Amino acid sequence: MSKSSAVQLPHFIGDIPDVGLEDRINDSDGLLTFACPDEEALLKAARGVGEVMIHPHGDARGVTPIRLTEGRVDVGLTTGDLLAHTDRPATKVPPRYLFLWCKQASDQGGETVLYRGRDVVRHLAEHDPAALRAVTSSQAAIFRTGTDEHVGPIIQIEDGEVVGLRLRFDHLVYFSWDVTRTMPAFQAALRSVERRFALQAGQGYLLDNRIWFHSRTAYTGDREMSRIMVA
Ligand SMILES: [Fe+2]
Repeated sequence: MSKSSAVQLPHFIGDIPDVGLEDRINDSDGLLTFACPDEEALLKAARGVGEVMIHPHGDARGVTPIRLTEGRVDVGLTTGDLLAHTDRPATKVPPRYLFLWCKQASDQGGETVLYRGRDVVRHLAEHDPAALRAVTSSQAAIFRTGTDEHVGPIIQIEDGEVVGLRLRFDHLVYFSWDVTRTMPAFQAALRSVERRFALQAGQGYLLDNRIWFHSRTAYTGDREMSRIMVA
């Protein structure tokens, strides 16, 4: 796939603004893409929408480099395919917003792939209601990271609206039997609603981690993303 020009990015707003960003996110259903000159501008924008969270793998400002890191086996820090997930699903209150900004683009691959929770629900409701019941059950999955553990739905629905998502596909998740046996339908739903694009250096996306899953395809080259999580 060729690299995206800005006009192909979903909900592209141009240069990221210091003020009024939260209104723009709400207007765009929890996802927008932007241009940004550097990490400081990214931080300023992030601080404008909430409290920047400090992550063990990040720096003191709350910026985490997402790149190939020797000695790390977390898929996010390799060049491999990163499957659909939400960030920090085991924590009591996961980050609300994620800022991912492309510092250096990949040579090949490394596309961003996003899945709106509401679209997954709509697809499952039509094609496999049993799978929808499984992923929305209060016992759907156990998420465990360090001392954090959370038992709950993969997709949380209140009054017909998706209000929370939690997902990962690695050694830190345990799925219920109902989720396990309906997993092919859930995977098919994710594939059918995916939206993908490639970021160039200086471009980024902002999403609401409560209502969008995200992932990334395998890549070659010295791709580096800067991530900021906001509570
Ligand atoms: Fe992530």
